[in-house]
Amino acid sequence: MSQVQRSHWTSRIGFVLASAGGAVGLGNIWRFPYMTGENGGSIFILIYLGCVILLGLPVMIAEVLIGKTTQLNPVGAFRQLAGSKSPWQVPGYMGILTAFTILSFYSVVAGWCIAFLYKAVTGVFSSGISFEEINNIFKKLTSSPIEQGIFHSIFMFFTVLIVYAGVKKGLQRWSEILMPLLILIIIILIGYGLTLSGAKDGMRFLLEPQPNKLTHKSIMDAVGQCFFSLSLGMGAMLTYGSYMDRKDKVVSPCLWVVFMDSAIALLAGIAVFTIVFTYTTDLSQGPGLVFVVLPNIFSKMPLGTLFAILFFTLLFFAAITSAISLLEVITAYFIDQYDMPRSHATIIFGTICLIIGVGCIFSGEFFDFLDKLSTHYLLPIGGFMISLFAGWKLDQNIVKSEFQGSWYGIFYYPWLICVRVICPTLILLVFLRAHGVI
Ligand code: TRP
Repeated sequence: MSQVQRSHWTSRIGFVLASAGGAVGLGNIWRFPYMTGENGGSIFILIYLGCVILLGLPVMIAEVLIGKTTQLNPVGAFRQLAGSKSPWQVPGYMGILTAFTILSFYSVVAGWCIAFLYKAVTGVFSSGISFEEINNIFKKLTSSPIEQGIFHSIFMFFTVLIVYAGVKKGLQRWSEILMPLLILIIIILIGYGLTLSGAKDGMRFLLEPQPNKLTHKSIMDAVGQCFFSLSLGMGAMLTYGSYMDRKDKVVSPCLWVVFMDSAIALLAGIAVFTIVFTYTTDLSQGPGLVFVVLPNIFSKMPLGTLFAILFFTLLFFAAITSAISLLEVITAYFIDQYDMPRSHATIIFGTICLIIGVGCIFSGEFFDFLDKLSTHYLLPIGGFMISLFAGWKLDQNIVKSEFQGSWYGIFYYPWLICVRVICPTLILLVFLRAHGVI
């Protein structure tokens, strides 16, 4: 066990911004809009928000509380609370594995963002180039190992640099700088989007309920998206909670993080769909939505280059503050459990993720495998175990004292019902359904 004094956030707002930075990422700005597009708009958003309240918030409170109480990484935390021979360590170890899995392919996608930012700056999207041409640019990028490798490495380099600088000077400081900028860029994009002719159609698509579009797939997608977007199920929030002061309370900061993450996903949805509906009605683009459809639209817009630069800067900022939360999980584990210096841990494990990411670049199947492995298996199983642990195993006096003496005190029992019954049941049902068992 590490003897080194644990770092802490310098303020409560420091925790909120760093955690919101970890949560708000490609999941909000790249994945949420295209999932919404594929799953019929408003109805998906409603289910998603339902998942956020019933699954996301309770599990987030559980994770942050476990971290704050133990002041340890996921493995150390479960060990301390359940004993070193207990099977409850499994979610801890799975969390470390998940961090490697997600960071490796996440960095490749984040590399695409930097590549597109670079293309935007050099004016590639300035002159009304055709849809085919942009499609080819994206295809060329995703089939060029060298180009992807370069941008993937650049992204991983920045990630390592920030985590290397530590909790206060790295994670907190950069989140405090980048999150306000990210919000500013989103507001500019929405302000612009709302003046466009597609604004009405875009808003209608996002707000007008169409229950006939509801399918099993939408529900599964919403649950998966909820865990991914809020960074739950693998101990990232647990690790960030472990840098909280023991005296600080967890419920209200968690409410803020969940609120900011959901608000930014919705705002990104508004920005993307008001722009998209102005120029096209084809929403079934999937992952290509922000890499093919948007640049195509930017190239037709007045000041398109400027908006393309703003948009890909937004994606880059969102991605980097999330990537550092993933590397931090691995780093905290090796610092706490093996006394490894932070500098060694960040460089060694950043490099390992870089190499695994290169595997994703060479093999699309490997990329899909890591993506599915984490979002379809590791995160839901992790979330399932964490909620059962918090509901049935964790000393409830610890939890009660978090809720007591405040306006949200009445939510202790609803929280308990969620983590004991609702979350595990819902995750299990969705999991079994997704794998064709029921
Ligand atoms: N939440 C981030 C996003 O929306 C991704 C992410 C960062 C993540 N840390 C995580 C996902 C931990 C799952 C678990 O892009």
